[in-house]
Amino acid sequence: MLFSKIAGVGHYVPERVVTNHELEQYMNTTDAWIRERTGIRERRFFNPDTDTVANMGSRAARVALERAGLHPPDVDFIVFATITPDYYFPGCGVLVQRELEIPTIGALDIRNQCSGFIYALSVADQFIKSGMYKTILVIGSEIQSSLLNLSDEGRSMAVIFGDGAGAVVLQATEDPAHRILSTHLHADGRYAEELMVKDPGSSRPGRWITREMVEAGGTDPYMNGQAVFKQAVVRFPEVIREALEKNGCAASDIDLLVPHQANLRITNHVQETMGLPAEKVVSNIQRYGNTTAASIPIALSEAWEAARVQPGNLLCLAAFGSGFTWASALIRW
Ligand code: UT7
Repeated sequence: MLFSKIAGVGHYVPERVVTNHELEQYMNTTDAWIRERTGIRERRFFNPDTDTVANMGSRAARVALERAGLHPPDVDFIVFATITPDYYFPGCGVLVQRELEIPTIGALDIRNQCSGFIYALSVADQFIKSGMYKTILVIGSEIQSSLLNLSDEGRSMAVIFGDGAGAVVLQATEDPAHRILSTHLHADGRYAEELMVKDPGSSRPGRWITREMVEAGGTDPYMNGQAVFKQAVVRFPEVIREALEKNGCAASDIDLLVPHQANLRITNHVQETMGLPAEKVVSNIQRYGNTTAASIPIALSEAWEAARVQPGNLLCLAAFGSGFTWASALIRW
């Protein structure tokens, strides 16, 4: 039987630290409000001279490869999750393929927002289990700061999101003791408009992007924060339990929960609902904000660096976000 295992994990975040106090200069907000409602203290904003979504992803991927003891030519497929691609098309996967100089391997982009990384991991896991590929780069990378409206109008979104990238190398293994056990993917498109960037879009009269769209705020991200929050605190525990039940495990078996970093209040709620002690749950939203598809691999990479991930540990990844989409993965490290 073929399985897949995470052979290496890495991350890259831009150098520029943007504190809540800096945001106070641009909009009517306070450090106290942001910390109380979200847990966030600071986030990273990209450097337009040096950072792109693809090259941030490539940098994270190089770290993951090095930690796996591998080199770019060892990779035979790329799955890239982002909601903020460098180009409308083509996707970022091909740009990573070019940057890593891996000739003609396939590259797939995934657009599943905050659940994007787990969706990408699941796709890669199926490719490996089917025997189609042996070594796959799974990347989540976002530059969200350039989408944010850093004014009073956009403040409810602007204070939450940040930039960053993370990656894992997934490798084929025949060892059932160290592998991805299962992945679980869900969506409910009835809520598509509750968290979205509406414009530009192709199904528009006239042009796909117009000055009017921009002036009307259609290109700014929109979020019905409370609707997202209410569903997130239900779906996170639900999809974690689904993964545990599928594998005959209990919540107490989890050694480390790596949730998508949406809001510290959501994470704390999930931790309490699942009856987990704080040290078994990774939280780094305080330093990076919500980095959407990048948040889980960044958190996983930091946890690995801090030796919080050991061989044999049971890890659970879980996410909820725009779509709505939600997902989990259970991993025996
Ligand atoms: O990644 C997955 C997707 N995202 C999420 O999971 C996020 C889910 N939602 C949330 O995290 C929370 O709903 C938010 C953090 C977005 C907002 O927190 P909230 O406790 O739901 O606040 P609210 O939207 O109900 O706003 C409360 C008040 C409002 O003022 P009034 O109407 O009470 O006078 C807002 O206008 O806070 C005001 N407000 C702000 N004040 C200072 C909204 N944004 C800000 C701000 N600074 N940045």
